Amino acid sequence: MSTTDIDGPDRTDDPEFERARARVEELAPEVTEHRRRYYRDDAPTVSDSQFDELMHELVDLETRYPELKKNDSPTEVVGTFSEAFAPVVHLEKLLSLQDVFSTEEVAAWADRITAEVPGERYLCEVKIDGLAVDLVYENGRLARAATRGDGITGEDVSANVATIAAVPQRLTGTDDFPVPALLEVRGEVYFPTADFTRLNEAQVEAGRAPFANPRNAAAGSLRQKDAAKTAERPLSFIAHGLGALQGFEPDSQSHSYAALDAWGLPTSPYWEVVPTIDEVFKYIERFGEQRHKLVHEIDGIVVKIDRIGVQRRLGATSRTPRWAVAYKFPPEEVNTRLLDVKVSIGRTGRATPYAVLDPVRVAGSEVEFATLHNADQVKAKGVLIGDIVVVRKAGDVIPEIVAPVAAARTGAETEFTMPERCPECDSVLAPASEGDVDLRCPNARHCPGQLRERLAFLTGRSCFDVDRMGYIACSALVQPLDSAPVLADEGGVFDLEMDELLPIRVVVRDPDTGLPKIDEKTQEQKVVTPFARQPDKKTGEILPRKNAEEMLQNLETAKSQPLWRVVNALSIRHVGPVSAQALAEHFRDLDRIATAEEAEIAGVDGVGPTIAAAIKDWFAVDWHREIVERWRAAGVRMQDDAPDPSEALPQTLEGVTVVITGGIPGYTREGAAAAVKARGGKSTGSVSKKTGAVVAGEKPGSKYDKAVELGVHVVQGEDFGRFLEEGLPVPEMQNDEIEPE
Ligand code: IVH
Repeated sequence: MSTTDIDGPDRTDDPEFERARARVEELAPEVTEHRRRYYRDDAPTVSDSQFDELMHELVDLETRYPELKKNDSPTEVVGTFSEAFAPVVHLEKLLSLQDVFSTEEVAAWADRITAEVPGERYLCEVKIDGLAVDLVYENGRLARAATRGDGITGEDVSANVATIAAVPQRLTGTDDFPVPALLEVRGEVYFPTADFTRLNEAQVEAGRAPFANPRNAAAGSLRQKDAAKTAERPLSFIAHGLGALQGFEPDSQSHSYAALDAWGLPTSPYWEVVPTIDEVFKYIERFGEQRHKLVHEIDGIVVKIDRIGVQRRLGATSRTPRWAVAYKFPPEEVNTRLLDVKVSIGRTGRATPYAVLDPVRVAGSEVEFATLHNADQVKAKGVLIGDIVVVRKAGDVIPEIVAPVAAARTGAETEFTMPERCPECDSVLAPASEGDVDLRCPNARHCPGQLRERLAFLTGRSCFDVDRMGYIACSALVQPLDSAPVLADEGGVFDLEMDELLPIRVVVRDPDTGLPKIDEKTQEQKVVTPFARQPDKKTGEILPRKNAEEMLQNLETAKSQPLWRVVNALSIRHVGPVSAQALAEHFRDLDRIATAEEAEIAGVDGVGPTIAAAIKDWFAVDWHREIVERWRAAGVRMQDDAPDPSEALPQTLEGVTVVITGGIPGYTREGAAAAVKARGGKSTGSVSKKTGAVVAGEKPGSKYDKAVELGVHVVQGEDFGRFLEEGLPVPEMQNDEIEPE
């Protein structure tokens, strides 16, 4: 073990020092243990960002009180290794990177370098969230592959790495870059993001614990005793540096990447050399925005000084080079405890389980809840109540649970069972039809949960679009605190009057879960009067809020929205904006939809029998028809004018079947389908030989692979606009179609 001798100033009386000593004694073994779980077991129990935080705290304490630093401090070592693989001593030590968490720290790093060597160019690249490996090529042949281990000794994973298609067994050479006699290459083995979800589903199905993230999946897949198992996983590789070398002298990092390319070793397509620190910041910002659009996960940006001579001059500490720095993105994934699984009721009565979490900060906001979709999903993800779970919040996306941290289980975790009764109105939940995976609350008209959600939906963006009528206002009309509800169902929404709104008090609810919000200070439910200002102190007079007045005005103008929005607002099962548009376009009148034969409805392009049956069912209910009548009486327009033929778009996709997969910039899924339709095309969900084209947006799914397999024409997401305007390309003549002369 290490020394704990303290050869320094006598600090026994300094309480701050004593606190620091106690903390270091606690932290150091903790960090060591986490490191072991991460590197040796591929089963970390804290998220990367939480680990970084602990490490940062330890480094900080050891910097302030160097005498507290032990020889075996985890701040001094790089990684660790297991005994399952034969040890391999690297030809040159593998260093780690100094992490920083703000652009100010990047600037401080650059300032320190500029003070010593001004005017250097920076090489920026993405920090691949994978697992470091070291490859040794002797006379162009892959002789050995090893994990990083502790930086000096790694694990021999040659057999496993040999299964990775991206790693060449033999190097190629060019005139400029002949094959060197000896080459040690460092790079990252990664698990492509698109394949990760599929892998985890398969893991759970096979009764195995899912991986917490693609990095763990990469590590778990590579470090298999049986290399045949590694071969089954779609691992890939990107090189990011050189170690020992004979027969080649790069003068810059970018020069070495050119050589790697020439030798047939994959380098990142994203690196750039920039002349100023401002350009570095721009790179960081750009990739921060695009981080989820790449084929692999990245957890930051690496900035390196490009010139090798300067790299040498700057040198390294025992762990990290001075010539490089890793800027880490704010965490989007953290671990926290799953306290409970509750159920929320949606506007069509569907009961959706969601996670109640020990609140954590993720991607800049506090997360307390995460969606779990349905009971099957809870099973599929393999999460138990009481588990530590990985929570992810990417950009504006609703937070979700990625996976449980199986390694942190105590045995006290319990399985979730779906409740039998509606949490809002206590009706017995039941599937809408046999074989339906979802349970529903049957009390459609009066269940306050369903009504609140329907109201919030029908006043929302894709329906009547009533500005100023948000979730609180909708809750207030349906579930006032100490008065009778103003609305028994949505029929009266266009008849609201200010007088009846003024006295309403309501509990503020979370729009994602419908759950009352708790005031942090008082620990009580938050109650507001959403429509009235506080009574005037002198006169006691209650005046409406400006927002409430605007809301009523907006309800007035909403009455002349186009027909499809009215149809969408009815919350008919299976009817969304796209089918609502198709119905409105075909029938032009709500009464005609209500009275049409089921077969005619089913025959409308983009509608089909399921929707047709749902429409018939909906209009067969008395109180549903009453809603329509009350809206009509209030002046809601229920017909569309005939279209102006001069406005019709050129029918560039007449008769073409199009499948859209992945996100198309600037379009919602429905919007993209509608755009195809407006051009005479048909948008469907599955790829076959008859498919005219597959539009592959960001993160395309398996439909893209299918298209390639079947030789279906593929349109890249960014070319979607051009595709709409120009249609399919004119087929090139095949060789065998050329008439012999
Ligand atoms: S360079 C001496 N470049 O991050 C510098 N590392 O946290 C060695 N990593 O051990 C590393 N992407 O496994 C470098 N573009 C990149 C990287 C990268 C990921 C990994 C690498 C390293 C770890 C440090």
